[in-house]
Amino acid sequence: MKVNRIGRSIGAEITGVDLENLGPQEFQGILDAFHGNSVIAIRDQDLEPGELVDFSRRFGPLEDQLNARYALVEHPEVLVLSNDMKDGKPVGLIDGGDFWHSDSSHREKPSLATILHARQNPRHGGDTEFADMYRAYETLPDEMKKRIAGLKGIHAVSKAKNKRVTISARRPDAKDHYEMQKSIPDQAWPLVRTHPVTGKKALYLSARFTIGIEGMSEEEADAILDPLFEHQIRPEFVYAHKWKDGDLVIWDNRCVMHRGTGGYTYPDVRTMHRTVVAGDRPF
Ligand code: OGA
Ligand code: MN
Repeated sequence: MKVNRIGRSIGAEITGVDLENLGPQEFQGILDAFHGNSVIAIRDQDLEPGELVDFSRRFGPLEDQLNARYALVEHPEVLVLSNDMKDGKPVGLIDGGDFWHSDSSHREKPSLATILHARQNPRHGGDTEFADMYRAYETLPDEMKKRIAGLKGIHAVSKAKNKRVTISARRPDAKDHYEMQKSIPDQAWPLVRTHPVTGKKALYLSARFTIGIEGMSEEEADAILDPLFEHQIRPEFVYAHKWKDGDLVIWDNRCVMHRGTGGYTYPDVRTMHRTVVAGDRPF
């Protein structure tokens, strides 16, 4: 098994491993690479949904999928991301993750890791970008570090509550979906969280989910949030993953943000199988 850094401060590719036959020592190697690089791309895999679930569970219990209508019937832990069509209807979630975010930060227990396995890559576009939230925190001016210490961001799932995002026109029923989600309670998490394994501090907020700061007026909060949103996606923190056939990518939602960049159009099809490893409350 070989691990090579491919991004500047995050992102490594792993070759020479077969996830269908993975010994405990090799899994430990993958886990170390995951903690050391925050995003890992394991090359040349071809996992059936059941195999993907078995491999994913080695990281911990899996999260139930929020968009259950696009989960596989036989394997409800697996969500289909796809722009493919059947009988005039999308077969998967289209445009998932189009704004910078960390998965499930709006839930009571935000996710630990997300695993995407490429089943079909488009000829154009479809990259996923990742931003290193350890570096984003480390490079903040001391004054800003002091200002945000102890503050909590408010995370909301509904796009209809967030003035910084727009609702994709490509997704059927998206407007009703987000209107319905308005009643789901928000969550408050530290703007700076400590990674439970590495012990390092990471910025924890995103333009997609963070809509305010606990105990602050909108104006006061925006004066902090807007510069942070700009800072945290500086190009030097970003690793853009260009998908190869057979890739299986795992990212650590506790210390990276990500987004799908789109750029492909049906009948150029992109299909991913996705599982999510459940996490704990950020501190
Ligand atoms: C996700 C996500 C982006 C992509 O699966 O959580 O944001 O590029 N995906 O598919
Ligand atoms: Mn996502």
